[in-house]
Amino acid sequence: MAATAETLAAAARIVREGKKIVCFSGAGLSAPSGVGTFRDPGDGWWSRHDPMKLASPEGFAEDPDLVMKWYAARRRQMAEADPNAAHLALAHRPDLIQITQNTDDLLDRAGCTDIIRLHGSINGDRCHANCGHVEMIDMHDPPGHRSCPCCGAAGMRPTVVWFGEALPAGAWSEAEDAARNCDVFIVVGTSAVVYPAAGLIAAAGHSGATIIVVNRDPSGASEIAHLELLGSADEILPEILAEG
Ligand code: APR
Repeated sequence: MAATAETLAAAARIVREGKKIVCFSGAGLSAPSGVGTFRDPGDGWWSRHDPMKLASPEGFAEDPDLVMKWYAARRRQMAEADPNAAHLALAHRPDLIQITQNTDDLLDRAGCTDIIRLHGSINGDRCHANCGHVEMIDMHDPPGHRSCPCCGAAGMRPTVVWFGEALPAGAWSEAEDAARNCDVFIVVGTSAVVYPAAGLIAAAGHSGATIIVVNRDPSGASEIAHLELLGSADEILPEILAEG
């Protein structure tokens, strides 16, 4: 239900009394900054495009030019975005552990550090043949499809995790450990439908954590939330994270 003064106060109290707090975020955290989400009806990327054509090794093999043009559009959109009040509220709480599905740099630019990134970062390209060549990207002037200048064996592709690809082992292990050993698990701005990432929510709940969901709409996390605050992350997070 829509966040009320009572549910906001209850969430703020849980956070105030929390000893080890994790924040697990998705595209809705950056939506107020003008960065597109994936599954929002109407304007979400996957409501207009087939994710398998744009965010999978198969899609890249079929049409690498289309894939890199899509990433160039997203990179230009992100280059114009600034951290919103939700990112800044999180940056004011360095005691919280940040686990994100997002590939933008808005949490970093807000001042968060040690972010556990499950799906990589969009600000780099790497050789799709894994020769080790990596390039940082000018997000204001992103490149298109090109072969790896080092090995030439494959194209350069974003340093993000595509559908069907493994999550970075180190990040996943850190995220699982954090989810299983926290007492408050805040879920913000995610439809909670993409696994294994979404599985962290149930893992936290099974380990006894109190699950607070902050989301504009009901999501895959609604059923296991102890407290659900429906609304915009940039309005709710500053309210429940404020210290004192
Ligand atoms: N405040 C809070 N929540 C919001 C806001 C907002 N201002 N705007 C949108 N949302 C919510 C939507 O209601 C939705 O539930 O954010 C959620 C975004 O869900 P998705 O678009 O599915 O994004 P996400 O959950 O991050 O996707 C997970 O899927 O495609 C893959 O790798 C991609 O990391 C991504 C993963």
